[in-house]
Amino acid sequence: MHENTIQLTQTEFAKEIKEGLTAFPKYLSSKYFYDEKGDALFQKIMALPEYYLTNCEFEILSTYTKHLAELFSKDDSTFSLFELGAGDGKKTKILLKYLIDNNYNFDYRPIDISSNALSQLKSSINKEIPSVVVNPIQGTYFDTLKTIKDEQQNRKVILFLGSNIGNLLHKNAIAFLHQLRAAMHKKDLLLMGMDLKKNPQTVLDAYNDPTGVTAAFNKNILNRINSELGAKFDVEKFKHWEVYDPETGTAKSYLVSTCKQSIFIEELETVIEFEAWETIHTEISQKYDDQTVDWLAKASGFKVIADFCDSQSYFKNYIFQPL
Ligand code: AVI
Repeated sequence: MHENTIQLTQTEFAKEIKEGLTAFPKYLSSKYFYDEKGDALFQKIMALPEYYLTNCEFEILSTYTKHLAELFSKDDSTFSLFELGAGDGKKTKILLKYLIDNNYNFDYRPIDISSNALSQLKSSINKEIPSVVVNPIQGTYFDTLKTIKDEQQNRKVILFLGSNIGNLLHKNAIAFLHQLRAAMHKKDLLLMGMDLKKNPQTVLDAYNDPTGVTAAFNKNILNRINSELGAKFDVEKFKHWEVYDPETGTAKSYLVSTCKQSIFIEELETVIEFEAWETIHTEISQKYDDQTVDWLAKASGFKVIADFCDSQSYFKNYIFQPL
């Protein structure tokens, strides 16, 4: 990353943290969970028995690989498989392996802001499935896709897995999908992973593991404010709290201050006051049903042309095509 970019990002971080902590009620964006420590905690979450999302999507991609490959290559011999936020690529490798074993013509283009994450992913794919042509793209999703729109002749298939869309409120999800739509041609496809409404207890358990990994993941945002903005949060004085509304399908995470406390944040030259039991809202994890997904797709210029579900009906992968 260029030095100026770091400065700009740091200023934006500081600005958003100040806005959120001086608002009433207080909030912070979950996008700031993910530094090196946050990434490692999220990897741990994905391996938790309660966090069913990863296994369900893995099952879908393993079961319906052939169907997906046929949809991806329909009418065209060659396509490019883009992925937004690939992580360790565990799920994507199932698709890549099948596509290689069955002689599909494609290349794989993971997009990520972190060049470090991309080079790790590339070398692990090179090792495990050496025939895959991996062309990583370092940058933000939209800047990258916009540049590619005109130069790219092959069909684009864009993967957005893991129910990452669920971390956005519907309004922001529509704005996000709209931007993706603007970077796509009519023949392109978008494969979305979306977590479904289910027994509310199952959802709550997924975000409330007894080992405390999810709590540490949420509290990591306070650690970041400590190390990057010179604050003195004692994370032990905050409790992670999860609620789920089965009507709207929205799971919400909070950090609750267990006592009255004042926190000085050096870089912001601000003192943040907490009453006992005052909250900071940190994350939403939206759960969906077919009607809501259809509505989201239409509102952002897509139609749903196929969907694939796991055996417990916990999670779906939807194929969106531009209208
Ligand atoms: C990345 N995202 C889809 C996860 C989710 O399920 O909302 C992040 C997460 N938060 C707590 N556990 C996992």
